[in-house]
Amino acid sequence: FVSGPVLAIESSCDETACAILSPTGECLAQRVVSQDGHADFGGVVPEIAARAHLALLPGLVQATLQDAGLKPEQLGLIAASTGPGLIGGLIVGTGFAKGMALALGKPFVAVNHVEAHALTARLPGLVPDGADFPFLLLLVSGGHCQCIAVEGVGRYRKLGGTIDDAAGEAFDKVAKMLGLGWPGGPALEKLAQEGDASAIPLPRPLMGREGCDFSFSGLKTAISQKLAPFGQNPLPRQFAADLAASFQQAVADVVANRIEHALAMMPEAKLLVAAGGVAANSVLRARLQKVAAHHHLRFTAPPLRLCTDNAVMVAWAALETCREAAERGLPHPDDSAIRPRPRW
Ligand code: KG4
Ligand code: ZN
Repeated sequence: FVSGPVLAIESSCDETACAILSPTGECLAQRVVSQDGHADFGGVVPEIAARAHLALLPGLVQATLQDAGLKPEQLGLIAASTGPGLIGGLIVGTGFAKGMALALGKPFVAVNHVEAHALTARLPGLVPDGADFPFLLLLVSGGHCQCIAVEGVGRYRKLGGTIDDAAGEAFDKVAKMLGLGWPGGPALEKLAQEGDASAIPLPRPLMGREGCDFSFSGLKTAISQKLAPFGQNPLPRQFAADLAASFQQAVADVVANRIEHALAMMPEAKLLVAAGGVAANSVLRARLQKVAAHHHLRFTAPPLRLCTDNAVMVAWAALETCREAAERGLPHPDDSAIRPRPRW
């Protein structure tokens, strides 16, 4: 269903990435550049990100082709994340990919970034017994926080999502309050290892409520109230560690509860998949593993490099889309008229 390897570009946030997969999904080469220059601002600055994608992409694509030992003419398909995400970066990546496709006379496939996260678990060899549909996906990153019933290629049902912050955003904001820098998730997890998770009582927003929506802003407010008495004074190390551990525990409790509800909404699920940067958190992973075992379900979280933003998942989603079209006897997708979209 494709005439040669697929080259994909990811540029929806602050990772500039390129990957080349064989038609069967074998990774021939992949590169990711996590842009610097954002940390000083405590978050991703869209304009800086877009300009960095523009500066990085030509060299990155060339290097990835070299890694794979391929000439551009040998490619069968070009793909890019075309949304949702930061519009400046999406325009750069989509424009670059469409330009390549046009110059090479190859088809272009537009990939939904969230769909790419959703289908990652199906990469050949990733999940021991395969990730057959239907499965439940928990997507938890800096920009996304949702439960999705993945029923097939192109068939997704959003069961619930955040009504305020994404989980990663909450980790980053709390880490910032604790003076841990950005991105804060990994630093907060590290500090929490020294803390007592039951030391400081914190709320569990929406826990036990119907459905599987998330809310994290109340938790963030509670933390800032615990910190208020210290004013500008430095935090005692043990207190900071206890607060980090208690926060992490509260998030894990809430997420586990929301997943329990999501599974009740999707009894046909065969597998629970966690993806996105926050799925790297070992306390959260352990909790999800437990919930899955309780429901006699398998649990998987792709390795971190495939959990966070990358282009392998984009190339794979494009392949899955083409295979699905071929199996239905539909013509090869031609997305050359599709424009990047910040919301999708
Ligand atoms: O998927 P990702 O790389 O980028 C997008 O947001 O799309 O996710 C980044 C987010 C950040 O908010 C970061 O703080 C969080 O994932 N994160 C973690 C951990 N590692 C990364 N949060 C909690 N614990 C971690 N170990
Ligand atoms: Zn992402």
